[in-house]
Amino acid sequence: MDRPIAYDKLAREDRFMRMRARRVAELKLEQGLPPFPDLARRESIKERVHGILVGELQAMEGAGRTVYDFPDAPWEFTLDMARQVWDESRHVEIYIQLLEHLGGYAGEFPETTILWRCACAEDAAARVAGVNRGLEGLACDVFNQLIHIARKIGDPIIEHAVDFVLADEITHVRMGSKWLNELTKGDPERRKRAIEFQETIDERFNLGGLRREGDHEEVPISIATEARRLAGFTDEEIARLIKTTQRSPVY
Ligand SMILES: [Fe+2]
Ligand SMILES: [Fe+2]
Repeated sequence: MDRPIAYDKLAREDRFMRMRARRVAELKLEQGLPPFPDLARRESIKERVHGILVGELQAMEGAGRTVYDFPDAPWEFTLDMARQVWDESRHVEIYIQLLEHLGGYAGEFPETTILWRCACAEDAAARVAGVNRGLEGLACDVFNQLIHIARKIGDPIIEHAVDFVLADEITHVRMGSKWLNELTKGDPERRKRAIEFQETIDERFNLGGLRREGDHEEVPISIATEARRLAGFTDEEIARLIKTTQRSPVY
């Protein structure tokens, strides 16, 4: 069994172009563009929506791999991951339509493969910690911000569509919280490694220091504390995340 699959072996139509995130940031800087658009213009919202679309695609593929890669995991775990594949496939369809709503199309921007690479952790507990809790926790922050912006610019289609997707993401983070606990029961060392993996992801994905604690109007991406609580994060974990965003301003 080929585990993990190299990111450039993921099946894609020709219209998609893959590129390392670092390279995308370099090219933007060379062209005098900000590496992380502030979503003040519709064009930058479109780019963000495209980034989310490829993230959803890779989330679908990652959960699918997890169904396949761990035949000895509890049956309920496999079922949860299969449900997640179904959810993510709907999210892909929703974001393709949002992209079209914004006048864009799939393949308009390069696809980075950060999510997929995190989805290739060898241990199932590390995968749910890193992807479901780390990256999908980040998705809660990003979606919450997008809902706020859509409301501000008076776009109820984006506002409601993203809100529906956010509701699913909260359940995915919850699944991550549940399975991190279940899979590492009686094995504190395994639990520690999985949590450390999640924390490296939390630290790396602060989006250039844009993700902070605070009101939407005051910080570029506000940490969605309410959504995170609903998703099973403890107050202590939220406090720790806020601390990491304060000390790692670089991507
Ligand atoms: Fe999703
Ligand atoms: Fe998800």
